[in-house]
Amino acid sequence: MKKIIVGNWKMNPQTQKEAIFLLNLIEKNLKKKNEILKKIEIVICPPFVYLPLFQRKNLKIKLGAQDSFWEERGPFTSQISPLMLKNLNCEYVILGHSEKRTLGETDEMINKKIKTALKNKLKPIFCLGETEKEKKEGKTKKVLEKQLTLGLKGISKNDFNFSNLFLAYEPVWAIGSGCSCPPKEANSILVFLRKITQKIFSFPIKILYGGSVISENAPEYLKEGFDGLLVGGASLKVKEFLGIIENCFTFLKSKKLN
Ligand code: PGA
Repeated sequence: MKKIIVGNWKMNPQTQKEAIFLLNLIEKNLKKKNEILKKIEIVICPPFVYLPLFQRKNLKIKLGAQDSFWEERGPFTSQISPLMLKNLNCEYVILGHSEKRTLGETDEMINKKIKTALKNKLKPIFCLGETEKEKKEGKTKKVLEKQLTLGLKGISKNDFNFSNLFLAYEPVWAIGSGCSCPPKEANSILVFLRKITQKIFSFPIKILYGGSVISENAPEYLKEGFDGLLVGGASLKVKEFLGIIENCFTFLKSKKLN
């Protein structure tokens, strides 16, 4: 199965011109890399306002959004409907990011968003992770289990195609800190999350790692069994982002040879 590398641009860049420049550069570099694209799906999640700029045919990357609302239409000032995202050819949507949780998004809200996204055949990338304080207090697994069970509450395996839901383990202390989670430690969380999702759905859900991923550490997480990566800061530096993709590809190729 294909691995996935998702670039979360967050609230960047600040102009349309820069957004187009960034995307063009990524696209240009991927054009000669069909081999890579057979093994890795590349997804870019720009701010909503740039999505209409990326509506060309034959895009090498897939498009994603950084949020979507739990209602499809109506009087909900500032919200974005999954229907609007589908209309702009978005396939993926990041939900439950810690930067949204910090601003007041609850597990219940995330749960409703995941349900509506799945109903509309968007592929949610459902983020979870513990804070530094929770980690220090030894609460990591408890926190993750709570986020996971509340986020997926009421969703049964009949509600979606299993390949359409992704989890992203993003320890909050690793996001934007330059201090990524040691791969072995991330692996123990991966095993834990797989066990719970297996119990809920009786089939495995794809799980990504996110938090200070750079070209150097990226393949380590694939080695530990993650199905992909959620990349923030490094996805805005084209050379670094392409380095992440290249290094992951090199690892995947070498794995096949062994
Ligand atoms: P980072 O962000 O790669 O800059 O740590 C990851 C994320 O927030 O998704």
